[in-house]
Amino acid sequence: MRTLIFVTTAFLAAGSAAAQQPDVIFVPTPHEVVDDMLRLANVKKGDILYDLGSGDGRIAIAAAKKFGIKAVGIDIDPERIREANENAKKAGVANLVEFRQADLFKADFREATVVTLYLLPDLNVKLRPRLWEELKPGTRIVSHQFDMGTWKPDKRLESSGRVVYFWTIPAKKK
Ligand SMILES: C[S@@+](CC[C@H](N)C(=O)[O-])C[C@H]1O[C@@H](n2cnc3c(N)ncnc32)[C@H](O)[C@@H]1O
Repeated sequence: MRTLIFVTTAFLAAGSAAAQQPDVIFVPTPHEVVDDMLRLANVKKGDILYDLGSGDGRIAIAAAKKFGIKAVGIDIDPERIREANENAKKAGVANLVEFRQADLFKADFREATVVTLYLLPDLNVKLRPRLWEELKPGTRIVSHQFDMGTWKPDKRLESSGRVVYFWTIPAKKK
């Protein structure tokens, strides 16, 4: 019996650890590309920005610092969350930004007016139905480097050898 309990616990622990593995590793967006992403998304006072897969927090922190807006970063890796919180403190915007340790595919991001992404092509496509269904019309989305498959971008910008894509959630969703 004791062996059975041990094996079951070990199995569950391994399962939950596996569920926490990042879908993509941390590679930061260069700061100049961050600036272009915010510019392309026309971020302004009153926006609420969500960076899905927020890494060291640089996009949320830059948005809070430049525009004084609320920004939320979601990352599955606790080390990234720690780092992002430290960076927010150093940048003096800890009162405006919040970093949540969560799986972006399960997180609630409905309050966003701007969503930023630097994931992978297949992850963007996997996320697309939730972006489309749950975000309010007029919400802007920018993605560093990767598009959304058949959902064609409204704009595309070259930035320091990278590409930034921009979409708006339409008023009438099909
Ligand atoms: C390529 S980095 C981008 C970091 C940041 N957005 C930037 O542009 O500098 C992707 C981040 O997504 C996080 N990540 C991967 N899979 C995730 C998931 N399922 N849920 C939340 N975060 C995830 C990784 O830990 C990593 O920090």
